[in-house]
Amino acid sequence: MTERLVSGAVQDDDLDMSLRPKRLEDFVGQNQTKENLSIAIQACKIREESLDHVIIYGPPGLGKTTLAHIIAQEMGVEIRVTSGPAIERAGDMAAILTSLQPGDVLFIDEVHRLNRVVEEVLYSAMEDFFLSWMVGKGLAARNVNLRINPFTLIGATTRYSMISAPLRDRFGSVFRLEYYDTSEMKVIVQRSARILDVEADQQGVDEIACRSRGTPRIANRLLKRSRDFALVKADNRVTGPVARDALAQLQVDELGLDQSDRRLLESIIDKFSGGPVGLETLAASIHEDSDTIMDVWEPYLLQLGFIDRTPRGRVATKLAHDYLGRPYSKLDPNDQARLSGF
Ligand SMILES: Nc1ncnc2c1ncn2[C@@H]1O[C@H](COP(=O)(O)OP(=O)(O)O)[C@@H](O)[C@H]1O
Ligand SMILES: [Mg+2]
Repeated sequence: MTERLVSGAVQDDDLDMSLRPKRLEDFVGQNQTKENLSIAIQACKIREESLDHVIIYGPPGLGKTTLAHIIAQEMGVEIRVTSGPAIERAGDMAAILTSLQPGDVLFIDEVHRLNRVVEEVLYSAMEDFFLSWMVGKGLAARNVNLRINPFTLIGATTRYSMISAPLRDRFGSVFRLEYYDTSEMKVIVQRSARILDVEADQQGVDEIACRSRGTPRIANRLLKRSRDFALVKADNRVTGPVARDALAQLQVDELGLDQSDRRLLESIIDKFSGGPVGLETLAASIHEDSDTIMDVWEPYLLQLGFIDRTPRGRVATKLAHDYLGRPYSKLDPNDQARLSGF
């Protein structure tokens, strides 16, 4: 499977730290989250305490990692970065926790993928800044207890519901990042163009902003591709027509949808008569991994109102039929649900 230009997931050429906002005031949009964070951070600084543990969740590419770094920066502390699947043993978790300085941020990406034993070390660490874990096996086993420095755990996830309840309960606040609206996306594209020194006019910016699925990571990627196109095919300026041509060439349409999205919608409509079709069946029909579909493809199609998740599976809506030019003959999903007893 080749990488999709409009996937929100991280790809090789995304690792451009210069584009990452460093302060809360540079972080565009997500106003509610920013406001709440700002108050919490200021209060902690006044009280000279560490910030309460935070979960940040939402689809890939919306700024979870960026926000975690900003929080550490605003608190004036160091950030230690790791991820759920990277920590295999309780001892690894303990080693990380004991190395933290007072107030430091521990950022765990994909926090829903921590394994059980590692998670259990976190419980008392998060609650009382106390470590308690078993070392060795059988008769040689002994319990180790250790006090650690107060710290702030920031967990990021695309799947809030997959975080276990005991872990979830130990976070003081939960922030959900939303897709950015078009006006916010325009500001983000403009900002990135300035940083990357791309000459783009307003129409060029608008064109990219509208096709980026409300996702800054995708906007940055489309901007870079449009810049290349402008350099080779135009006079190095990303104007409206240049951006349009560049993105058409890359097969990203006005809504930011690509071949893969269309393939998914076509599959539901043509192979499964519009649905409902179970996720696994759908995934098999287009040779994709069901987790990727759920985390990366679906959220934006749901947001557009092109698909619905029903108890019996995925359904393509009238909007999706219209988009693909297919006749729509189904009952309204609500009527359908009523008739089938849901
Ligand atoms: N609010 C924002 N304002 C400006 N740029 C942003 C914003 N959120 C994200 N970005 C850009 O998008 C990229 C992806 O963000 P990231 O934090 O890595 O997303 P996530 O961790 O949610 O997948 C960042 O490198 C940054 O350049
Ligand atoms: Mg991230």
